Amino acid sequence: MQAKSRVPESAQEGIHRHLAALLERHRRAPFRKPCADYNRAAFAESMERWRRVAPDAPLILDACCGNGESSLALAALFPGHYVIGVDRSEFRLRRRLAAQAARSAPPPDCPPNVGFARADLIDYARLLRDEGIRLARHYLLYPNPWPKIGHLSRRWHGHPVFPALLELGGVLECRGNWRIYVEEFCFAVHMLTGCETRCESFVPSAPLTPFERKYQASGHTLYRAVADISEDRRQRTEDR
Ligand SMILES: C[S@@+](CC[C@H](N)C(=O)[O-])C[C@H]1O[C@@H](n2cnc3c(N)ncnc32)[C@H](O)[C@@H]1O
Repeated sequence: MQAKSRVPESAQEGIHRHLAALLERHRRAPFRKPCADYNRAAFAESMERWRRVAPDAPLILDACCGNGESSLALAALFPGHYVIGVDRSEFRLRRRLAAQAARSAPPPDCPPNVGFARADLIDYARLLRDEGIRLARHYLLYPNPWPKIGHLSRRWHGHPVFPALLELGGVLECRGNWRIYVEEFCFAVHMLTGCETRCESFVPSAPLTPFERKYQASGHTLYRAVADISEDRRQRTEDR
């Protein structure tokens, strides 16, 4: 991966003017596209592994985990949890999937409380939701920004699956190097859940992901938002 990269360029100067209407549409009309068989198979396999390895461990989802480096780091950071790294790219995940398949000789850099699934998050998130699974933590680290104005619905918060992602609950963290993406994420979380969250710039003490490392090395400002959308937190807010 090259060290120098550019901050996404966009004609957008703030939160997309159609975001609120799009979210309203997605809230009213649940996303019903059938899930692909390969995603169902990857989901079932990952659930089986979780229940075999750490059945009582709360779940952390590292959504769009790329090469899985962040999933390993999160597993080390939260040893009492089980982390699932999901990415649709077989190329990016190939090393982790090979290590996972070689169960008899797991490599030393692979802690036991992590598993990987090569799957499309659009299906994987809905399969989790339909199974009634709730997350302890949920990471969306450096998703593709899709900065063109016409690409709003390709950003996660502009996609019809976003309400299902939020239903998974937990402490949800989004990071990126395009401020507007993270601000839109905050807007969408607030509109759909009532949870207040804000976009802040931050400097990681050590990079959690390859993209974080690349952006930091390129001198970019990094942004993040953390939203606690666990059910008990939402209940406490509603009771006030
Ligand atoms: C910019 S990379 C960031 C990867 C990693 N989180 C990091 O920070 O290094 C975005 C990742 O999202 C994955 N991705 C994009 N759309 C996806 C989808 N629908 N389902 C699963 N993964 C997806 C890509 O394969 C890619 O690995």
